[in-house]
Amino acid sequence: MNETTANNEQTPAGVGPWGLKLAGVGAALPPKVLTNADLTAWMDTSDEWIRERTGIGERRLGGTTSGLATEAARAAIEAANVSPDEIEQVILATTSPDYMLPGTAPAVARELGIDCGAFDLQAACSGWVYGLVVANGLITQGMNKVLVIGAETLDRMTDYHDRGTGILFGNGAGAVVVERDETNQGQLLSWDLGSNGQHVHILYSEHDGKIQMDGREVFRQAVTVIQRSATNALERAGLTVDDVDLVIPHQANIRIVEAAWKRLGFSMDKTEMVLEHTGNTSAASIPLALDSALTKGRIDSGSTVLFVGFGAGMTWASAVVRWA
Ligand code: COA
Repeated sequence: MNETTANNEQTPAGVGPWGLKLAGVGAALPPKVLTNADLTAWMDTSDEWIRERTGIGERRLGGTTSGLATEAARAAIEAANVSPDEIEQVILATTSPDYMLPGTAPAVARELGIDCGAFDLQAACSGWVYGLVVANGLITQGMNKVLVIGAETLDRMTDYHDRGTGILFGNGAGAVVVERDETNQGQLLSWDLGSNGQHVHILYSEHDGKIQMDGREVFRQAVTVIQRSATNALERAGLTVDDVDLVIPHQANIRIVEAAWKRLGFSMDKTEMVLEHTGNTSAASIPLALDSALTKGRIDSGSTVLFVGFGAGMTWASAVVRWA
């Protein structure tokens, strides 16, 4: 099987009988800021080098995964104007759970006062987009409201003395209330989920270890899978690059996005980036950027939004949403 024609047959448009609405979005960042200048105190690097090679200026440290997830979820629930007890499922995409066992999602549900199903989803930086596609499936099966969160405390897994990885990663959370849209105006038009376990060891962490990475190889693979995955998702939706109003990519490195966009024909003008102020927050990065795009008024009713995630595994996930 071709590595990007993954096993996800789908109807290109109008998936299932129900529409889908991203009804409320929330974000949370811990207050402690680690700037590039701070890193130069103990690392042979510079603000200029980090900005030029990655687009990152600072990242956030501290907090807990459940705490940040809960804060983002509260904001999303408020923005959606729903009551917590209307949520029927909590999906928490994370690569840095509070504990090895149990998952972190039940603790988040409890903090929110929600009594429903709750599970963690581990697909690294692609996790939130995987969660969106799972939520769509649950809604197609009859659920009304699913909370999809991406939350990370990567500072526990990052060696801030390592030049290759310490410049990249930070903490944060983003959450979205995903609702059935009875009007059918909002839709998950298509998606593309994939993985290639051949590349496990280019980006990984042992239990209780720190992130290990072959940066150049991750960069190379990321550009390739973004291009293929975004193309697959657009083709399945019957759309072209010109039909997309806004792209929200995983925020790993601005040069990865620029290289992939060059091949795809996207412009950075149509792209929401929060990377400069967050660093790479893995599963939290796409909902954090979505929150930023909404705050800036970059998404309207009827907008076509493309989400593109990629990361360790390797995994990748793209989704095309028509905004309700
Ligand atoms: N500051 C200053 N110099 C640095 C440095 C740093 N933080 N890190 C590496 N260098 C130096 C190297 O020592 C090397 O020097 P040399 O040429 O004298 O040997 C030079 O810069 C180039 O190193 P290289 O590792 O090839 O740099 P790069 O251009 O590949 O950039 C990354 C390194 C990590 C920024 C880049 O590979 C990257 O972003 N990869 C993708 C990582 C990623 O996004 N992971 C998450 C995916 S979800």
